[in-house]
Amino acid sequence: MTTAPADAEGTTVRRAERADLLDVFRIEKTCFKQPWPFAAFEQFLGEPGFLVAVEGVSQSGQGDGSAERVVGYVVADVTPNYGRDIGHVKDIAVHPDARGRGLGRMLLQQSLVSMTLGGAKLVKLEVREHNDPAKALYESEGFEPLRRIPRYYEDGEAALVMVVDGDEWQRSGDEA
Ligand SMILES: CC(C)(COP(=O)(O)OP(=O)(O)OC[C@H]1O[C@@H](n2cnc3c(N)ncnc32)[C@H](O)[C@@H]1OP(=O)(O)O)[C@@H](O)C(=O)NCCC(=O)NCCS
Repeated sequence: MTTAPADAEGTTVRRAERADLLDVFRIEKTCFKQPWPFAAFEQFLGEPGFLVAVEGVSQSGQGDGSAERVVGYVVADVTPNYGRDIGHVKDIAVHPDARGRGLGRMLLQQSLVSMTLGGAKLVKLEVREHNDPAKALYESEGFEPLRRIPRYYEDGEAALVMVVDGDEWQRSGDEA
């Protein structure tokens, strides 16, 4: 299991496990007008880009499981594309009580690490045109708008497709 460094408040990012799925699904329903069904998350179990942010893990990183709480997640994967594999951030959310503490960025960065290690040369995502917090997060990680898809969402809102070059993202991290 891959475990990223915890932040000051003891949050760890690790691969999602079956036992996390109910918490993930609860957060999903809290955060989105069109939540993914539970089964959609099940399909991504085992995917290196399906990560959860967990509070209450002991300093050894082991924890006894009982006090752990999933506070956010990201679902991402890599699709082969004739030598220029494409990473896709499919879903990302942080529980409303845990926002503004850097967890969204931690999850996004870890998913980008996972995708670039998995061979992604380009990473894309779709975001609601008026989702300013998410757009600000993506822009600050180097994503740029590629195109706008009118009425992409059921309520009629447009999506922006945003992309970042995998190698450039890695280089910007090395320079930081
Ligand atoms: C988008 C989301 C995941 C961000 O999570 P978070 O843990 O609050 O984000 P962070 O604390 O890591 O903040 C990272 C950056 O995001 C941006 N951001 C976060 N909240 C913001 C807000 N309310 N307004 C504007 N920008 C914001 C900022 O650029 C911030 O960087 P900074 O702290 O250096 O200013 C969270 O708001 C969320 O779960 N939203 C609902 C689900 C959603 O819309 N997902 C995206 C689908 S495309």
